[in-house]
Amino acid sequence: MTTPPSTPKKLFIKTYGCQMNVYDSQRMAEAMGSEGYVLTENQAEADMVLLNTCHIREKAAEKLYSDLGRLKPLKAERPDLKIGVAGCVAQAEGAEIQRRMPLVDLVVGPQAYHRLPAMVRKGGGIDTEFPAEDKFEHLPKPAATRRAPAAFLTVQEGCDKFCAFCVVPYTRGAEVSRPVARILAEARDLVGRGVREITLLGQNVNGWHGEGPEGREWGFGRLIRAIAEIDGLDRIRYTTSHPNDMADDLIAAHRDEPKLMPYLHLPVQSGSDRILKAMNRKHTVETYLRLIERIREARPDIMLTSDFIVGFPGETDDDHRATLDLVARVNFGTAFSFKYSPRPGTPAYERPEVESDIADARLQELQALLTSQQKAAQQSMVGRELGVLFEKPGRNPGQMVGKSDYLHAVFVEAPQARVGDLVRVRITHSAPNSLAGELAA
Ligand code: SAH
Ligand code: SF4
Ligand code: F3S
Repeated sequence: MTTPPSTPKKLFIKTYGCQMNVYDSQRMAEAMGSEGYVLTENQAEADMVLLNTCHIREKAAEKLYSDLGRLKPLKAERPDLKIGVAGCVAQAEGAEIQRRMPLVDLVVGPQAYHRLPAMVRKGGGIDTEFPAEDKFEHLPKPAATRRAPAAFLTVQEGCDKFCAFCVVPYTRGAEVSRPVARILAEARDLVGRGVREITLLGQNVNGWHGEGPEGREWGFGRLIRAIAEIDGLDRIRYTTSHPNDMADDLIAAHRDEPKLMPYLHLPVQSGSDRILKAMNRKHTVETYLRLIERIREARPDIMLTSDFIVGFPGETDDDHRATLDLVARVNFGTAFSFKYSPRPGTPAYERPEVESDIADARLQELQALLTSQQKAAQQSMVGRELGVLFEKPGRNPGQMVGKSDYLHAVFVEAPQARVGDLVRVRITHSAPNSLAGELAA
């Protein structure tokens, strides 16, 4: 153990990409806490700047370099400022980052960041290994500070599915499931620190299959039921799921487990079997639709969301229309859609691309349809009474913002309420990306 210095050093973290990076940033901040660093929101006063990066699309990855460019004057002014790059670009590009940007002191991959404190003590370095040890077990224990009412908990990492467009199997490595005992211990610790909602994270979270306390393997549905037994925990969510890993027991948990929220993000990527095959998705439109049917039988009010890629190599107008058709048939609560971005090292990288203008037009058309579905889904909440967990005060005095059961942001006049209250709210109004409501009697 090192003794923290008397004046704490300041750490600024910028997080790009998915929720898993948000979780990792929190863990890195806690790890650096034992080195005497406290978080700052102000980059200009930081002793260390850590960029936790995303490699999923070219634009995401290039953001790192524009941000590093903007850090040059600060580093010139204060050469002792430490600059670190973590996350998936760190993993994918490693030493290349320092070659392109010599102001970077350290590069640490997503599976090696338990070694971050030691790297900082040494003054820098590069570590993009996939160590055999579990990083979570080697992170310094964080101080038992209070946490926000909603928290992430990573239960599974990595991916063995190798979709033809995707960098994740390379940046995050092979699929690993954390054991039940460690997940339950972390969940209980979070609840002990004021957390009432936990979102279980994994690149293929529903493919989680970890070791149970008796040494036998558990499935994800069983894990959810065990977490639901924690007193003081009110809500459970999980993301991101793969359609091929939606086991019967998990679907049943959506029917039986009241703490499991009625919301499911289930990426489908395309509505054309030809494209799904080229993407190596290993499911068809029909199996996806049948799965949705079964999920809705188990939990009729569930809100479904998804991810789509338009302009994947070989995509024709007919394929695109098939995607629009799938969207029309499912009716999503909201969804993310992306223009295909060729990623070095992935199987689809060298394939001939769809013309950029055509892909742009398809993206617009798909987004218009998804936006209209989102609007309708939000409108259908008006008049209903929903649970809302308050996460922070709103902009106006006396106002609170929280998340509904369906993950919509909800603004409520509630002058007596506190962050962390879980209340019943009657929804009165739907705005483009949020709802408004009043406390139910
Ligand atoms: N593990 C999750 C998603 C991980 S990435 C899953 O399997 O669904 C999040 C989303 O980014 C993907 O669902 C996909 O829609 C999108 N994406 C991934 N690679 C992409 C690429 N090369 N170009 C455009 N979008 C991409
Ligand atoms: Fe990427 Fe496919 Fe794995 Fe999801 S399932 S992380 S899209 S390779
Ligand atoms: Fe991006 Fe890595 Fe997440 S590539 S989406 S930060 S797993």
